[in-house]
Order: sequence, then structure tokens, then C-alpha cells
Amino acid sequence: MRLFVALEISTEVRERIGQMISQWKRLEPAPRWVSAENLHVTLTFIGEAQPSALPAIQEALAGIREQDPVDLEFCGAGFFPGTRRPAVLWIGVRSSPNLAPLAQRIDNALAAATGVAAETRAFLPHLTIARFKEPRLAPALSARLAAFGNKSLGSFSVRHFQLVESKLRPGGAEYTTVRSFPFVSGHPPQGNFS
Ligand code: 2AM
Repeated sequence: MRLFVALEISTEVRERIGQMISQWKRLEPAPRWVSAENLHVTLTFIGEAQPSALPAIQEALAGIREQDPVDLEFCGAGFFPGTRRPAVLWIGVRSSPNLAPLAQRIDNALAAATGVAAETRAFLPHLTIARFKEPRLAPALSARLAAFGNKSLGSFSVRHFQLVESKLRPGGAEYTTVRSFPFVSGHPPQGNFS
């Protein structure tokens, strides 16, 4: 099974970015645009794992704690590896300083549980919205992105991360949450004791 660990997007931000994707898709239908229900922020890509490894993976993830929730703000857009040869179009993610340490803890816990080395590349939080088959940027989309600038698309806090299974289907990836892990060790927010 193909697995990764991600943060879920709030309904409000998901809908807002989903509408934006529909508009931008009209300007440039060639890339594979991510459907609104599939939007997520990847923390760690695990890749192919034996189903027999699932209990150890879940146990490792269940032990991860951060003192505070992670605050996220979505703003601006950009390309990996760059505008000249676009492969991925993303929305930028600004976060509280505890996001990178959380991703690092997840990497280390998974490395210990699976024996696969932890990710060594720098963690660049982002929200992928399109994957390019050809590294070519339509002028209309380029102009729209320039006008979009660093506009904020909303912010929210997260207290859980998700272990997600990805099934590659002919129509695109299908994601299923295997389990959601609460990671905040501090006090719950006031007035929310239900
Ligand atoms: P992304 O966050 O940039 O979109 C599921 O495939 C998720 O894991 C995707 O959202 C993808 O990146 C992320 N991912 C990271 N490394 C990957 C890899 N080597 N192959 C496929 N997906 C990867």
C-alpha cells in the first residue's frame, strides 16, 4: 500500500481554493489539476509499505506530541522547480514555527518504525494544486498568477495529522484516511470540552 502523512485543509479554505482551481483550469486545462477533495499538505511521503508494517507505523505516529496546535495560512502561488520549467504549481503555506519540528518528528518516528531512512531534503510546506505533464506555462495562467500575487486564501489551526492511503487510479489518485492522529499535548482550547 502507498502511504503518506498529511494535514487536512479546513472546509472553508478547501472550497475557496477549489473555486480558484476551477477558474484557473479554464485558462489552462493541460496540467492535472488537483480536485478540491484531494487537497492536502504533505508532511512525509512514506511510499510503498507492506500492510504488515501498518501496526508499527500507526504506533510510531500515535506517540508524536507537540505542545501547541499548528497555525497555517495559505497565500501566494509558485512552481517547483521554478517558473521556467514548471512541474508542480503550489499555494504557499505559512505556519507557526512548530510545523517543521513536527514534520521532523514524524520522519524520525517512521524511520525508527520502518527502517527506511528519514527524509534529508529541507521541508518546504506547500499545497500542490496542479502537476504539469509538459513544462509549459500558458500566458493566460501566467498573467493570472501575477495578478494573484501574495493574496491570502485563509488560515486555520490544526490539532491532528492524517495517515493517508493513495490508490493510483486511471482517473487520478484516490486518497483514503487510514487514521487521524491528535498531536497536541497542551490544554484543549477553552470552551471546547465536548
Ligand atoms: P505534494 O505534497 O507535493 O503534492 C501523495 O502522493 C502525496 O505525497 C503528494 O501530495 C506528493 O507531493 C507527496 N509526495 C512526496 N514525495 C513523493 C514521491 N516521491 N512520490 C509521490 N508523491 C510524493
